[in-house]
Amino acid sequence: MMDGKRYEALEGQSVLQVALEYQVDIPHFCYHEDLPVGANCRICLVEVEGKVVTSCTLKVIQDLEVFTQTPRVRALRKKNLALLLAGHKEQCPRCQQKELCSVMQTLRAYEVDTGRYTRPKTACPLLRLATAAEIDPDLCIGCNQCVEVCQKMGVGFLKLEGQGASTHAACTPNEKIDCLYCGQCTLHCPVGAAREQSAIKEVEADLEDPEKIVIAQMAPSIRCSIGEAFGQAPGRDMTGECYTALRLLGFDRVFDVNFGADLTTWAEAHELVERIMQGGSLPMFTSCCPGWVKCAEFYYPKWLPHLTTARSPHMLSGAAYKTWWAKKEGVDPQKIVVVSIMPCTSKKYEASQEKFLIDGWKPVDHVLTTREFVQMLRARSIDLASLKKSEGDMLSQYSGAAAIYGASGGVMESALRTAMWLLDGTSMERVMFEEVRGMKGIKKAHVQMGGKTLRVAVCATKTNMDFLLQELEKDPEAYHYIEVMACPGGCIGGGGQPIPTTQRIIAKRIAGLYSIDDHATIRRAHENPLAKEFMEQYIPSLSADRQQQLLSTHYQPRQRFE
Ligand code: SF4
Ligand code: SF4
Ligand code: SF4
Ligand code: FES
Repeated sequence: MMDGKRYEALEGQSVLQVALEYQVDIPHFCYHEDLPVGANCRICLVEVEGKVVTSCTLKVIQDLEVFTQTPRVRALRKKNLALLLAGHKEQCPRCQQKELCSVMQTLRAYEVDTGRYTRPKTACPLLRLATAAEIDPDLCIGCNQCVEVCQKMGVGFLKLEGQGASTHAACTPNEKIDCLYCGQCTLHCPVGAAREQSAIKEVEADLEDPEKIVIAQMAPSIRCSIGEAFGQAPGRDMTGECYTALRLLGFDRVFDVNFGADLTTWAEAHELVERIMQGGSLPMFTSCCPGWVKCAEFYYPKWLPHLTTARSPHMLSGAAYKTWWAKKEGVDPQKIVVVSIMPCTSKKYEASQEKFLIDGWKPVDHVLTTREFVQMLRARSIDLASLKKSEGDMLSQYSGAAAIYGASGGVMESALRTAMWLLDGTSMERVMFEEVRGMKGIKKAHVQMGGKTLRVAVCATKTNMDFLLQELEKDPEAYHYIEVMACPGGCIGGGGQPIPTTQRIIAKRIAGLYSIDDHATIRRAHENPLAKEFMEQYIPSLSADRQQQLLSTHYQPRQRFE
């Protein structure tokens, strides 16, 4: 029973889990359904048999009677909230933008005057994770969620430091461990202490500059997750609404990273076939996840020659806008600003790297996460869910193969569709490769094409990569082609996605991506007419050096924090 009402529960469930299932309001900061229970925040209090206890640790038993809103419970919650969040509003960038996040909502509901308390400052500087994310020790409530999730990803870069109210997240002194910039810590932080490094101000400044032509392009996985921030079910395709919203924000052109995904597939599938037919380094690894690239450069430099040299989708399309499209439209590339909206914090790190510069300009000028895009919409009171759908501009055309890039296995499947066409011509009409789909951390398959059996594997998170590379150490010829993503479920579960993100939510978002592919008229990257024009007409018209500059990248072993 909760507050006099009877609820059904499963054996082993906690009271908080039951409350969440039935939408009974119990505020909580340190519970996440995919992580171990730490009971650190002491906010999810309830009263049972005259005692006040944390509901995330209280297991349900037959006829348990729980009270969630007694004066005693509310008073204690209020006190704990005030202690944890003293000074929060003044320091939090989201609060300063008046975003009604869950922290603000809780503070309001409990009428907590955090100004009456002062938390001891940690005297620690902001922990910057390259240009990707940051952790503010003075906003941190020491809940341990970021530490847990980083460990679960197989990295273990974070630990808690300090004591009592000044406990905060910090980086490990272990020199053998470095951050991948995946942003999973930001996705699991309940109070915005771990967050992306915001690019909103820079993007707004460019949008206000009449001299600039500002292009927006959104990643495959944004469209099936962003609706959640506007009350929509996970997996609902919001592509058309996002295009409308981007125009309302003032973007001059609305293109799509999915177009770039078709370009990457094109380049990557050709490279795979060439390596197989001409005896290049195998297995070939995907490289469109900068979290995985950082992982290889720091932890596994031996395998760097095995990463595909194809640039990632938004970097390829960004280059296409500033060269091919600029020439078509007679526009000065220096005036073009490309803004990518990504599910990812490590894409900020990727876009800031000098190795991608072309004639001194960046293919992508700014990267916003899905959450930053939501912040910009909220600041303008734009309700995405009530907008009419619209079409994108010229370079927003894409195949179904591009749509599935956001799911673990999607990059592999897209490349296999095109590789099969390259090896078998039109004799093989196979489009779907179900064996590389799904939420399993490691997926393995044998695929027939070109009279050969291709051994392929797909893995997500460093934990699974470590397993797979151990296998490769024993048998280097175990696979021909391997897809690697740093985040669970792939980019759809990326570190820049809406909060909360859980395994259950990720599965629904993935179903949304496959549904876009199922309904697409073009299912293979090489059938996208604009990708075809770029790759078959524009690229061959350039010198070999220029082709290399636009399409290819390279890798280098890296030191810690490099
Ligand atoms: S960005 Fe990823 S690897 Fe780095 S601290 Fe956060 S969770 Fe760990
Ligand atoms: S940074 Fe956020 S997730 Fe990490 S311990 Fe602090 S409050 Fe918790
Ligand atoms: S899996 Fe996707 S979201 Fe996660 S780090 Fe890699 S590119 Fe970014
Ligand atoms: S959610 Fe229960 S103590 Fe934090």
